[in-house]
Amino acid sequence: MDRSNKPSAIGVGTSLPQPSLSIQDNVIEASLPTGQSVKVHLYGATVTSWKANGKEQLFVSEKAHLDGSKPIRGGIPLVFPVFGPPPQTHVTSSLPQHGFARNSNWEFLGKSSSEAPGRDGDRTDLTVKLDFGLSHTMLTEEFREAWPYEFGLVYSVTLTKDTLETALQVRNEGKQNFEFQVLMHTYLNVADISDVRVKGLESKTYIDKVLQATSHVETSSALPITQETDRVYQNLDPAVPVVVTSAKDDQPLFSITREALKDVVVWNPWIEKAKGMADFGPDEAYKNMICVEAGSVSGWQTLEAGEAWEGGQSIKSRL
Ligand code: BG6
Repeated sequence: MDRSNKPSAIGVGTSLPQPSLSIQDNVIEASLPTGQSVKVHLYGATVTSWKANGKEQLFVSEKAHLDGSKPIRGGIPLVFPVFGPPPQTHVTSSLPQHGFARNSNWEFLGKSSSEAPGRDGDRTDLTVKLDFGLSHTMLTEEFREAWPYEFGLVYSVTLTKDTLETALQVRNEGKQNFEFQVLMHTYLNVADISDVRVKGLESKTYIDKVLQATSHVETSSALPITQETDRVYQNLDPAVPVVVTSAKDDQPLFSITREALKDVVVWNPWIEKAKGMADFGPDEAYKNMICVEAGSVSGWQTLEAGEAWEGGQSIKSRL
């Protein structure tokens, strides 16, 4: 039979290649046809890898525990419902440092993909979104007792050609109001901390946790990291990017915008603290990371019964 005139299947040749997804050993990995990829551990819904521009953008300690025995040292651990050591006088006082989100097992809710206009306007780029859920019924008994509220969290990790976006929705599903803090504890991978400058913090008030939590105003327009640094910058405009630049060429390495997250923590443990952390390694690796953490940690967000709150960050890496 002559099949030379057989019509081709509808859409073939015009449909875009789709993002791929793999699920293995409680790790979800998604890749875009353009080469970018992201990996998320169900333990903590911790993003542990983001590859873009042909290289890894996040730092993960070589000694990080990836077996669910300890929060993962690196990537993007999620801090909720309390930042740092819980205040003894607050209802969170029996929770561990940084709360329970980073050390609970989350559920993978599914993947969705969409098309976004490309940067040059006439192209279409694909994006892939992974959703994760955590609710009070999924917590260990110990955590449920320590924070006895009915809540639902949906954490969305979206990979685009140019960015990684993480967004959290917090729902109060109970009958009492609750208070929370939240922070996306992002460990950025840098080649050499001595080349790093952080911009977008000038004139902002910060609490210096290295200097007995005293309050200061930032005077530097391009902050170098030359020692242990642990600062909570407060009340920033979320739409104005905090930019990690290279001192060599003054070009951005990362640019971070936020939504509903007004605080930014800048943290580097430096050599002594790095040596003191059993899951941080090698010791010298403090030179290859900087944490720029978007959050809402000064004071508390109050969420009324039945209400929802949403916040997030978008990180663009050097293009
Ligand atoms: C930062 C805090 O966000 O996290 C630091 O500001 C803290 O004070 C750091 O040391 C790491 O915390 P952890 O619990 O992961 O060792």
